Amino acid sequence: MTKPQHQALFDPLEIGKLSIANRIALAPTHVGMGDERGMVTDQYLCYYYARAAGGAGLVIVEITGVTGRYAFAPGRGLGAASGRNLPGLRDLARVIHWGGARAFIQLLPGQGVQALVPHQGRPLVGPSDVPALLQKEDLPKAMRGILREMPERPRPLERDEIHGLREAMVRAGVRVKRAGFDGIEVHGAHGYLLGQFTSPYFNRRKDEYGGTPENRWRFSMEIIRDLKEALGKDFVVGYRFSAREGIEGGLELPEAVEMARALEEAGADYLSVSRGCYGSATHVFPRGEDEITEDAAAVRKAVSVPVMCPNFQSPDLAAKAVSEGSVDMVALSRALLADPLWPTKVREGRPEQIRRCKRCYGCVRDAVIDHVPVRCPVNPALGFERFDPGCFPRPPAES
Ligand SMILES: Cc1cc2nc3c(=O)[nH]c(=O)nc-3n(C[C@H](O)[C@H](O)[C@H](O)COP(=O)(O)O)c2cc1C
Ligand code: SF4
Repeated sequence: MTKPQHQALFDPLEIGKLSIANRIALAPTHVGMGDERGMVTDQYLCYYYARAAGGAGLVIVEITGVTGRYAFAPGRGLGAASGRNLPGLRDLARVIHWGGARAFIQLLPGQGVQALVPHQGRPLVGPSDVPALLQKEDLPKAMRGILREMPERPRPLERDEIHGLREAMVRAGVRVKRAGFDGIEVHGAHGYLLGQFTSPYFNRRKDEYGGTPENRWRFSMEIIRDLKEALGKDFVVGYRFSAREGIEGGLELPEAVEMARALEEAGADYLSVSRGCYGSATHVFPRGEDEITEDAAAVRKAVSVPVMCPNFQSPDLAAKAVSEGSVDMVALSRALLADPLWPTKVREGRPEQIRRCKRCYGCVRDAVIDHVPVRCPVNPALGFERFDPGCFPRPPAES
């Protein structure tokens, strides 16, 4: 039986018109289990099924590309840029539903300057010609390989290219809706392209996409409005952003709170609050836990749509964040890599059996630096779910 102090995690939640069984989401987490063309593999199906069947009420599928035009680094990740991606995405939405969760997918218009290595001659672009920053001080040992990268000066995007990216987001949005997903999360966090546009550090444009805060936010607002218009008001469109960039001259919380209000007004159905960029990598992937809750609570006070944030391991802290009203939902990333049964173990009142992430940063090195499928020392089954009969996708029993 669920311990009383964890009960708040198992109340249902409405996002827009969509009901979600509990307050636990798999945060979007790039695990690189695909092929070079962004296709869904059997391993992806089994990995995501295991997270849904483990009891998370919502599975947010990782960073997914919408165009192959510009440099894009996550190796072996997912794509929604082409009709060829549709059959795989349809199976992916299906197995997440079989596991008992709602399925969202995170769409990314580009990595911008943080693509670091331009691929196959594709151009490195950004809002302005400001190159990526890389955190140098206090970087976890497993992540030091990122310092081998030499950030290049990007080419500022032309206006018509920005419009082209808006169209690519809509085409991908239509595709994932057709595939059966329940919602989309627009990736504006962690210093990727949209984060660069909202950033006073990276965005030095002089046109209507730069200068004032409203101009810097414009690209993001346009994408939200475009998606809502194309997909219908009942289809969930959320937005993830870093409420503090964690770099000198970067976006700070007070402006991020104002931006959150504008996102809600533009039609965002929920907000996912995160932190940091590559210049402040340990903000994105904190060593501790519960480090982002305060920022999320500040955003939640300013808006009326549901708000979630990541960075929980302990069910006590996760449940406290929900029961005290800091967030509506917790989004677990490394906790569910280490143990997909985290929600079930908490619901069944046996949280002491959870396998805890030990913050070795191996998964981050695999995903962000080496571009190989992630592995985890505390969960040797991660990445091998396709061989585990207990993780194999099962359709619901016929009634
Ligand atoms: C291996 C790995 C890959 C990640 N990929 C994504 C991603 O695709 N999109 C995203 O918004 N955040 C991504 N993140 C960040 C997580 O969603 C989360 O915000 C961060 O890890 C902090 O939460 P945690 O303490 O629960 O891990 C990733 C994190 C890890 C560890
Ligand atoms: S133990 Fe290491 S590899 Fe596993 S989830 Fe935690 S940081 Fe990632």
